[in-house]
Formats: sequence, structure tokens, C-alpha cells
Amino acid sequence: MNFQLTEEQEMLRKMVRDFAQKDVEPTAAERDEAERFDRDIFDKMAELGLTGIPWPEEYGGIGADFVSYVIAVEELSRVCASTGVTLSAHLSLASWPIYKYGNEEQKKTFLSLLATGEALGAYALSEPGSGSDAAGMKTVAKKDGDEYILNGNKVWITNGGVADIYIVFALTDPEARHKGISAFIVEKGTEGFTTGKKERKLGIRSSPTTELIFENCRIPKENLLGEEGEGFKIAMTTLDGGRNGIAAQALGIAQGALDAAADYAKEREQFGKPIVANQGISFKLADMATEIEASRLLTYQAAWLESEGQPYGKASAMSKLFAGDAAMRITTEAVQVFGGYGYTKDYPVERYMRDAKITQIYEGTNEIQRLVIGRMLTK
Ligand code: CAA
Ligand code: FAD
Repeated sequence: MNFQLTEEQEMLRKMVRDFAQKDVEPTAAERDEAERFDRDIFDKMAELGLTGIPWPEEYGGIGADFVSYVIAVEELSRVCASTGVTLSAHLSLASWPIYKYGNEEQKKTFLSLLATGEALGAYALSEPGSGSDAAGMKTVAKKDGDEYILNGNKVWITNGGVADIYIVFALTDPEARHKGISAFIVEKGTEGFTTGKKERKLGIRSSPTTELIFENCRIPKENLLGEEGEGFKIAMTTLDGGRNGIAAQALGIAQGALDAAADYAKEREQFGKPIVANQGISFKLADMATEIEASRLLTYQAAWLESEGQPYGKASAMSKLFAGDAAMRITTEAVQVFGGYGYTKDYPVERYMRDAKITQIYEGTNEIQRLVIGRMLTK
């Protein structure tokens, strides 16, 4: 057993950390306040190769592994959780299913555009009436000659509106529930495909979340991903890896909050001494650091399993569950360490606390992670 990161993984961490501090952190609070997505940041990530970390060079990637990918999401989220999820949704939700299920033509066309960052990706599973019960979707795709006609609404779509390529799940056989779901690659600008309401959110406010509307939207049959009826399996296996991206996001948020709290606890004086001299504060920091280390081990392990071609679905559900719950506790405690100042926008910890909450909700709520883990234990 070797817990040492490779030289390449350490170099990637340093590169992403430098980039995050120089190009992401300075505008994070302003973008959060203004709910502003910044495409320039994504373009700079593309220049660094981050948009295609795990994909082979022949498809525009940099041929690194999934541990490198989670390190990148962690480092970005340490300063801006919105930027972390932009990359996570792009890479593990939009690009992965094309890498895994796409034919050669789809990989050459769509995966390459995503890997090089010429295109930004999104993943559209959830609907107004089907969140946790993903198989309960209503969006339909009716075959008509060489095309499919999509009708329906998707909600809560990360990168909605700003993305160029969408993985959309729809029923090709509405009577067959999950066995009748198929996956499609839909390009921005396709006639009949529009973006609806943009959500106003508690956290990750510079990551756009929107509704997608399909009204007689015609998709060439070449854009069917995998086989007809294979869509639910594609959706679920995509989430197996995606969830670990959210674990990495939660880990980064928690680390950012601890760093800020530890610095503050050394500087802030009350009763004539730094507040960290009180065990009540130093024990908080110790608990935070311990939970972060456990989150990191679970997250890196799940990514390592994926890189090694071993089963990683349970490990990924566990990392997301643990790191998400830990991030919520840690960021709440970070605000506590800052006292009243932590409750204001003068310091970043209130943003970390608002951002942490989503990691317990999306890519399957943490109740659903427990359901997934429980089913795997008893299968
Ligand atoms: N891998 C492969 N196959 C799987 C699978 C997996 N991980 N999970 C389920 N399946 C298969 C089952 O084997 C079964 O196949 P058969 O019919 O051939 O036997 C089939 O799928 C149906 O499985 P279930 O009976 O377990 O399905 P279910 O309807 O009970 O739902 C669920 C299972 C795990 C609760 C699923 O609905 C789920 O994951 N819900 C949460 C939805 C979710 O995570 N949404 C995230 C949206 S994306 C997002 O949020 C992005 C973002 O934030 C950035
Ligand atoms: P519901 O399913 O209605 O759940 C409500 C509550 O009931 C939750 O606490 C839940 O845990 C609980 N519950 C439900 N069923 C059970 C059960 N069987 N056992 C125990 N408890 C249960 N979706 C996408 O497809 N693509 C995206 O890019 C995307 N991005 C998102 C971004 C944001 C900011 C948000 C808020 C959501 C996003 N989602 C996305 C949707 C997200 O995955 C869903 O919100 C989530 O899966 C929960 O679904 P729901 O909101 O409908 O809640």
C-alpha cells in the first residue's frame, strides 16, 4: 500500500493551486454576489489542460488519471466551489458518458471538443417531478425516420445555458420506465431547444443552474448515445464517478474553511490571548482537520479504484456522503470560530458554509447515497 501521490499528481496540484489563487480566488466573492458565470475562467482551465484531464491525448485530453482529476476539483473548490462544480459537471457528467459509451465518431467529434475545452458540457437527468426518483422522468424522444423528436422539461441543470453540449435523458419507450430511457447528445442552438428559468440560489451562485425546454426538438439519430433503452444504466454509471467529483468539491470547500479559520484563530485576540489558545477553539480545528483527512482518503481512494479499473460505485457514494456531511459541519464551525465577523461578507467563511450545503443535495441527496450504499451491501 502506498499513500504517496506521484510526482505528476503533485505537479498538477501545484499548477491548479497557483491558477486558483491567481485567476479564480480574486473574483470569487464578487461573482458569488453578482451570480456571474465567467467563461474566461473555463477557457483558462482549458489552456492548462484541466478540461480533459483523464482522457487520452487522441481525444484532446492530457492522459492523466482520476486522482489528478479530483485533486483539480479540490484545489478549485478550496477558493471557489462554483468553479469546482463547473469542471466536475463538464468532466465527469458530460464527457465521461461519451468516453465510456460513445462510438468512435461521437468521441472524435464531441469528446474532443469537450476535452480541449472548445465546448462546455452539461448533464440533464432531473425533472420537476423526478429528482431522487430519476427513472420517473416524463421527457420523451419519439423516433421519426432518421431523427428523434424530444419533448419535455429538465430542471436544475448545472452549466445550463452556458454549456454547448448536453447529455439528455428521455423516454424512447414511455411504458417501460427505466428500461425505456435513452441518452442523447444535444447541441446548443438545436431548433426547439431553449433555456428556461435560471435559479436564484443559496450557494454556488456563480455556477448557473437552469431549466431546459425541449419543444419538438429534432436530434439526428447519430446523436443517440449507446443503445436505445440503455439510458438509465448510462445515467447511473455516470453518477458513480460524478459523485466522487462532488466529494472532491466538498473536500476543497472544507479545506478552504479550515485554512481561513486556523489563520483567524491565531490572529484574533480575546481576554489578552489568541482565541486558538482556548481548547474550545483548538479542539474544533483538530476535529475539522481530522474529518478533512478522512474525506480526502475516501475521495482519493474512490478515484484510484476508477483509475485501476476496479469497482468504485460504493466507494464513490461513501466519499460523497462523508465529505458532504463533513463539509457542512466544518464550514458551520468555521463561521463559529470567526464569531460575528464570520457572519458577514467581510470574510469568505459564510460563502463556504452556503456552498457546502449543495454537496449534501445534488448528484443524489445524502439520503440517496445511504440507499445506494445499503443496497450494495445487501446485494
Ligand atoms: N450502475 C449500473 N446499473 C445500475 C446502477 C449503477 N450504479 N444503479 C442502478 N442500476 C440498474 C439496476 O441494476 C437496475 O437494472 P435492471 O433493471 O437491469 O435490474 C436498474 O438500474 C434500476 O435500478 P433500481 O431498481 O435500483 O432503480 P431505482 O428506480 O430504485 O433508483 C436510485 C435507484 C439509485 C435511487 C436512482 O434513482 C438515483 O441514483 N437517484 C438519484 C438521482 C441523482 O443522483 N441525480 C443526480 C442528477 S445530476 C446532478 O445532480 C449534477 C450536479 O449536481 C452537478
Ligand atoms: P426530492 O427527490 O423531491 O427529495 C426531497 C427530499 O426527500 C430529500 O431530502 C431526499 O433525500 C428525500 N427522499 C426522496 N426519496 C427518498 C428515499 N427513497 N429515501 C429517503 N429519502 C428520500 N440534476 C441534473 O440532472 N443535472 C444537473 O446538472 C443538476 N445540477 C443541480 C444543481 C443544483 C444547484 C441543484 C439544487 C440540483 C441539481 N440537480 C441536477 C438536481 C439534483 O440532483 C436533485 O435536486 C436531487 O437529486 C434531489 O432531487 P429533488 O430536488 O427533486 O428532491
